[in-house]
Amino acid sequence: MADKAIITIDDKNFEMPIIKGSEGDLGFNIGKLRDDSGYITYDVGYKSTGSCTSKITFLDGEEGILRHRGYSIEDLASKCSFLEVSYLLIHGELPNKEQLDNYTKTISKHTLVHEDVKLVLNAYPTGAHPMGKLMAVMSMMSSFYPDSLNPHRSEGDIQLTITRLMAKMPTLCSMIYKHSIGHPMVYPDNSLNYVENYLKMTFGHVTEPFDCDPVIMDAMNKLLILHADHEQNCSASTVRMVGSSHANLYASISAGIAALWGPLHGGANQMVLEMLEEIKADGGDCVKAMERAKDKNSGFRLMGFGHRVYKNFDPRAKIIKVACDNVLNKLGVNDPLLDIAKQLEEIALKDDYFIERKLYPNVDFYSGIIYKALGFPTQMFTVLFALGRLPGWIAQWKEMRDNNEPISRPRQIYVGEPLRSFINLSDRK
Ligand code: CMC
Repeated sequence: MADKAIITIDDKNFEMPIIKGSEGDLGFNIGKLRDDSGYITYDVGYKSTGSCTSKITFLDGEEGILRHRGYSIEDLASKCSFLEVSYLLIHGELPNKEQLDNYTKTISKHTLVHEDVKLVLNAYPTGAHPMGKLMAVMSMMSSFYPDSLNPHRSEGDIQLTITRLMAKMPTLCSMIYKHSIGHPMVYPDNSLNYVENYLKMTFGHVTEPFDCDPVIMDAMNKLLILHADHEQNCSASTVRMVGSSHANLYASISAGIAALWGPLHGGANQMVLEMLEEIKADGGDCVKAMERAKDKNSGFRLMGFGHRVYKNFDPRAKIIKVACDNVLNKLGVNDPLLDIAKQLEEIALKDDYFIERKLYPNVDFYSGIIYKALGFPTQMFTVLFALGRLPGWIAQWKEMRDNNEPISRPRQIYVGEPLRSFINLSDRK
């Protein structure tokens, strides 16, 4: 295999070393190209551009493979708790029994959040989107822990911030939900595990949290694991980019939450459910919906379908589909939206437009049906994605910091006006 790539510009050759990943990813390092040649590369949306090397997550979009730190997502989702996976992502190895016990115990000691968070939430108008609130309370955390503002803190201090983040995120997410329905917050019960505690804080004043039913707990645990990391996606890249300026971890995560909110990224789970409801209200005609999705002038896309990297089944969607059936069976819910989702999938998998473009259901396609069955309002769906994605963002931020990566600062090709003479206000037309 070649060890260098050569770019020829105006008869001059510029050599760039080939970089090979441990699973066969190939790239070449253009870091010196501009200094040597005066040229930059141009790749809007980073479709062929790697921003870092990473040891966290391996993804083969053509084969539908997803692994964290070398372990398959299928094994992790079926054999681990979410906290175990978060430890793996952040620390690089699965915890042994003692490490897991200590990690769980430490997290359970930090679940309370400052009471003043309520003041911020109270300042929001009724009906405000929970992702906006989550961004605000996340960045607010840095004010309660001003030490976290110093980017050159000791490993111990960084670890404390990470623990606080993991511990307080479920409390913040449930407070946001309670605030949105005008209910008092439910304080954490640290005798419960991470998932049970979150469900209790969210639904505890209304119903028992499904009596800790193993099917429901398993589905929630899986959903969090399946969202835990996904290499250099929009929000993870945002967290790394913001962190590269030595912004504190809370601010970096808050920026990640902003990126996740968009409907092309994590916000798609809310859009999927709204789309399914719209199709149902329109008579449930899936063929018509598919025709709209293929019509570029309709402005309508089949939400929950397609992925920048997966050109095969999203392995997460396969696992979620099974969990979805289990939850609906357990709760005795017969949701017509599930039938619509299954019909759309069936049509899409046989449709030339979708086949040619390799568009398959992604992680967001079935997750909303589970969240809805559990009683979450649609606006909370992306918050649940954020709750799951938190350890991935932390791991990406930590790796960026441990690698001592320089500040992220892309170049551009300027295509605006060349220098022109200034026009005084009185002379302007
Ligand atoms: N429905 C209809 N057509 C689609 C869809 C879709 N969901 N997704 C892509 N296409 C078409 C697109 O119009 C384009 O067609 P053409 O080549 O004729 O111009 C082609 O497929 C390639 O699409 P693209 O937008 O260039 O691909 P991308 O890699 O830039 O975008 C995507 C990836 C996920 C943003 C896109 O597939 C999409 O908008 N999907 C719907 C939103 C969604 O479900 N997002 C969640 C992603 S998974 C969760 C996460 O990790 O963020």
